[in-house]
Amino acid sequence: MTGEGSPSKNITMQVSRPLTVSASPKGLSGRTRVPGDKSISHRSLMFAALASGRTYVTGLLEGEDVLRTADAMRALGATIMRDGTNWVIEGRGVGALSEPVDVLDMGNSGTAARLLSGILSSHAFNSIMTGDASLRSRPMRRVTVPLAANGSEFLTREGGRLPMAIRGTGQAKPIEYRLPVASAQVKSAILLAGLNAHGTTVVEEPVATRDHTENMLRHFGVEVDVSRIDDGGRRIALTGPVQMTARDVTVPGDPSSAAFPIVAALLVPGSDIWIEGVGLNPLRTGLFTTLIEMGASLSIENERVEGGEPVGDLHVRYSKLKGVDVPPERAPSMIDEYPVLAVACAFAEGPSRLRGLEELRVKESDRLASTVALLNVSGAETEVIGDDLIVKGHHAPLGGGTVQTHMDHRLAMSAVVLGLAAQKPVSVDDTAFIETSFPGFVDLMNGLGAGLTP
Ligand code: S3P
Repeated sequence: MTGEGSPSKNITMQVSRPLTVSASPKGLSGRTRVPGDKSISHRSLMFAALASGRTYVTGLLEGEDVLRTADAMRALGATIMRDGTNWVIEGRGVGALSEPVDVLDMGNSGTAARLLSGILSSHAFNSIMTGDASLRSRPMRRVTVPLAANGSEFLTREGGRLPMAIRGTGQAKPIEYRLPVASAQVKSAILLAGLNAHGTTVVEEPVATRDHTENMLRHFGVEVDVSRIDDGGRRIALTGPVQMTARDVTVPGDPSSAAFPIVAALLVPGSDIWIEGVGLNPLRTGLFTTLIEMGASLSIENERVEGGEPVGDLHVRYSKLKGVDVPPERAPSMIDEYPVLAVACAFAEGPSRLRGLEELRVKESDRLASTVALLNVSGAETEVIGDDLIVKGHHAPLGGGTVQTHMDHRLAMSAVVLGLAAQKPVSVDDTAFIETSFPGFVDLMNGLGAGLTP
């Protein structure tokens, strides 16, 4: 067993990695698998650290974001090691983490920072959390305000930004909260605080967001009650303090990562690819629904359940796409996929309207602005009306420009996809941040024939 996988050994993001992407020399072809789901990977490490006993995780995403979570949970007292392709976690038990001796650095990861804030708020010690320049610019009040209702305290920088100090409480009161924004991160932070609170924690969400926290808490033995509420939303409740018992976890392929080779195959003429073992949780598959509405040849084969999550193999072939109108209520099920969807829309026939994108403004970059800039620099026309993005279809945007990625992994991968099908090469200022969620992205794309030359 080794202690590999620590970001301190693996961080590569400090050195920027520009890349110029020319049109793919041939259609993409072959079978591949994408790395493990990021949301599920973070949760598996956090929940295993809170459980009693030893958990084995298979298929963990070994991206920088998740390695930050591993380091943070180690700093809080869990033992986390890599053993061949498995990760092994010795948990400490709910409420039994210990005070970290140093600042917790969550790197680029909003999910790690927000979910961990919930856990820390109901532990009786103080901690300090920071992140990279992108994470330090992202709003934390969305979690600190509701979490403080349990008796914990948060001291942030101006505007509710990191770094922040957390004074957790060992006497946490249960929180009842209705989400003002559709955010699985906020929902999860409150539920995780509730694990060590005395009484019933209730979160109401007006629109269903990804439910990996609810599913995995149940997997670790926690009773989680989910019911529909009158306005069509959901009410999630759990009663603490709970006991969590170690259970092995199998992480499916990340549909949000699969999005990039999928859209590339749809746009590069002659492509025909398979992506195996992709997670198909219905609260994550809005992109697939949307692409099919656009006329994509995208089919799901061999559907099965692995590790409690539905998975399948995706077969994707080059397709002539048409514009699409995406309703705002679909946004939570594809929130991370809009940049690459916008690229697909730029190649479609006719305009597309992607509605209700306000949450994109607070991602790793302001993704509404950076997606617009990505398309505009490549000659595709866009318009933003309120929170809607309109993309005028073009068939093959010109390319030729340099895309600024603003420390945003998904922007960088979307720019690569655009370059593979544009008329002129597309330069990407920095692809280093791709490591946060999709280690091996360039090699995987080259394995399908993309001909990227780093
Ligand atoms: C995530 C939830 C989403 C998503 C993020 C991962 C999660 O964020 O954008 O990449 O794992 O809960 P919000 O919940 O803030 O929309």
